[in-house]
Amino acid sequence: MTNKIDILLLGAGGREHALLVKLAESPRAGKLYVTPGNGGMLQLAESAPVSQDSPQEVATWAAENGIGLVVVGPEAPLVEGVADAVRAKGIACFGPNADAAQMEGSKEFAKQVMARANVPTAAYRSFTDRAAAEAYVRELAGPCVVKADGLAAGKGVIVAATTEEALDGVAQCFGGAFGAAGETVVIEEMLDGPECSLLALTDGTTVVPLATSQDHKRAYDGDKGPNTGGMGVYSPVPEHLVSPDDLATMTDVMNRVVAQLKADGIVYSGCLYGGFMLTAEGPKVLEFNARFGDPETQVVLPRMHADLVEVFLACDNGTLDAADVAWDDDWAVSVVLASAGYPGSYESGKVITGLEKASAQPGITVYHAGTKLDGGNVLTAGGRVLDVTAVAPTFAEARSRAYAACDLIDFEGKQFRTDIGARAL
Ligand code: AMP
Ligand code: GLY
Repeated sequence: MTNKIDILLLGAGGREHALLVKLAESPRAGKLYVTPGNGGMLQLAESAPVSQDSPQEVATWAAENGIGLVVVGPEAPLVEGVADAVRAKGIACFGPNADAAQMEGSKEFAKQVMARANVPTAAYRSFTDRAAAEAYVRELAGPCVVKADGLAAGKGVIVAATTEEALDGVAQCFGGAFGAAGETVVIEEMLDGPECSLLALTDGTTVVPLATSQDHKRAYDGDKGPNTGGMGVYSPVPEHLVSPDDLATMTDVMNRVVAQLKADGIVYSGCLYGGFMLTAEGPKVLEFNARFGDPETQVVLPRMHADLVEVFLACDNGTLDAADVAWDDDWAVSVVLASAGYPGSYESGKVITGLEKASAQPGITVYHAGTKLDGGNVLTAGGRVLDVTAVAPTFAEARSRAYAACDLIDFEGKQFRTDIGARAL
């Protein structure tokens, strides 16, 4: 008797390629389908002819094709209710229902949950009136952070050093730069310190924190340039940056938030991403996301020893307390190769060379992000193109392996940061 199940994975980034590789390793993985997928994912899985943005289409196709588990990578389908629609068909889903996905879908909702759970975070006020928001910014008379309340594809956060920048941020939000996401605006205290991400799996009751990781959000070396989706990442974060006390606080925060949601009548099932600032007063929450991080997943999953299919099913059916998750002692470093111009405008369709040679190096996995297949070629098809990931017994070795592999890969306009993980060395 086989207990294999067929799986549909939604998404098209490096995060989803890393999820797919780990799902494929499970003895329980049957046929694997993806939508929309990318050039790496489509070498491992079949394309499903459905739009990830339509919860009904996804749920109906999954039911008609005997899918036993739907795994949701990005936030937008979750906020749209794809997990609700899939579960309504009696199919297991990895990812929170729409009510729980509000932890990412509305910054004000998340702030209110944090306040009820007594979780440390930046002081804030929220506004639906532009004049009131402007008056508050003038009253603060200094640095602050202006955030569009809703999903804005990672762009709705303006870290303002001056009142002028903050007023400009308020004008962008209320001026429609982020669509409906900016109709409510959260203005918060600016926090200072290194950032650290802590992802946790949960079934709504049990919380299993995963390894810590540190993303590099700015486009250029030395944390210069505009914010991006993330230019590189490593895991775990060493103790000189995240002390055992910090980690205990962060873990406690994740537990308290899931327990608070449960007390509020909301079962959070899936991955909860905690973004923390390690301030002089201890870790404070910057944001929650309702999904795995990208690129954090690309360094967290390779070090994880677990049957990902079993673990995801356990998140869905409330049996995560019995799950088995262990960690490698190795370190992981991932460097993003991006297209010239990213995060601004960039060209696509450039031929990528050296992928096989890079992937054959010890400890190297190259996850695809913005790529597509074209006959025998792999072409660039996005801003962030590849995540070159290395694992090794020491941090320094993982870092040098990753950079050596980056040099073996080429495409016109290849750009990357040369200082990923420099702070941890
Ligand atoms: P968010 O999407 O809310 O995490 O914001 C994106 C990025 O903006 C974070 O990773 C931080 O680098 C920065 N940020 C957000 N909130 C704050 C804050 N209160 N103080 C300083 N930086 C912040
Ligand atoms: N790495 C940031 C994010 O996934 O939102």
